[in-house]
Amino acid sequence: MARDKITIVGAGNVGATTTHIAATRQLADIILLDIVEGLAEGKALDIAEASPVQLYDSNIIGTRDWEKTADSNIVIITSGVPRGPGMSRDDLLTKNVQIVKGVSAKTAKYSPDSVVIVVCNPLDAMVYAAAKVTGFAKNKIMGMAGALDSARFSYFLASELDVSVEDIKCVLMGGHGDDMVPLPRFTSVSGIPVTELLDEEKIAELIERTRKGGIEVVNLLGYSAYYAPAAGVVKMADAILKDKKTVMSCCAYCDTEYDAGGYFVGVPVVLGKDGVEKIIELDLNDSEQTQFKKSLDHVKQLAAKVDKLL
Ligand code: LAC
Repeated sequence: MARDKITIVGAGNVGATTTHIAATRQLADIILLDIVEGLAEGKALDIAEASPVQLYDSNIIGTRDWEKTADSNIVIITSGVPRGPGMSRDDLLTKNVQIVKGVSAKTAKYSPDSVVIVVCNPLDAMVYAAAKVTGFAKNKIMGMAGALDSARFSYFLASELDVSVEDIKCVLMGGHGDDMVPLPRFTSVSGIPVTELLDEEKIAELIERTRKGGIEVVNLLGYSAYYAPAAGVVKMADAILKDKKTVMSCCAYCDTEYDAGGYFVGVPVVLGKDGVEKIIELDLNDSEQTQFKKSLDHVKQLAAKVDKLL
């Protein structure tokens, strides 16, 4: 049986770290591609040279040549300008939409049957752009944000409660921005609703920290996070390649679901070999619906900007 193949576009911090984590998990053979001469080749070589120590035997190839990406099962798009201090994710749209446009066209050409996971920002708008340019079935295009934002929320909750991170299961919806919607009513500690364990004020504080989780790291480092984003995208690739039917939040195409009207936005989904195999529709209360609608309206505004630029 041929091995699965993942292409990771962009050999910056997120792309390289994704390559390393995916390799250590022996998820698939990996093609790391970047336009900067030597960058993907160097990072891939370094990661491959760690394999005799860490004992993984995935083939890891760095390249500038799209031909080598042909027939990938999954294409992960990390390429784009990252955030610096004082920047919002939305500030990146004009530049990154052109990068995603070029990469999506190549993806459609070389891996027409792939599942595409977009990681660059502003996330929901870049997924929308990739869908437009590739013309792929909507279940095969998605964005990694929910995995990261849920991981942050879960980590903050586990730290606050002094329990294992393994025990936290959380649901988070909306766009990957300050108006994302963590849902404590649907978040549990081994089945115990978190609302039973923490008071409203503390939960609100942790939600606010989750919403600002990206900028908290940017302010510390001067550039954006990559370990947790890379872990999030590997979780999605793992669910798809192994057809795990994993329930998690990700940026997925919603039409009648949540009355979204044909936009990509964060929702709970089932991920398996066909990509987004199902969108789980929760019965949101008024406050949750209002928050989701606000976040969706923001996503729609960014999509309108993409329409103008594509
Ligand atoms: C973050 C950036 C990568 O949330 O969007 O860290």
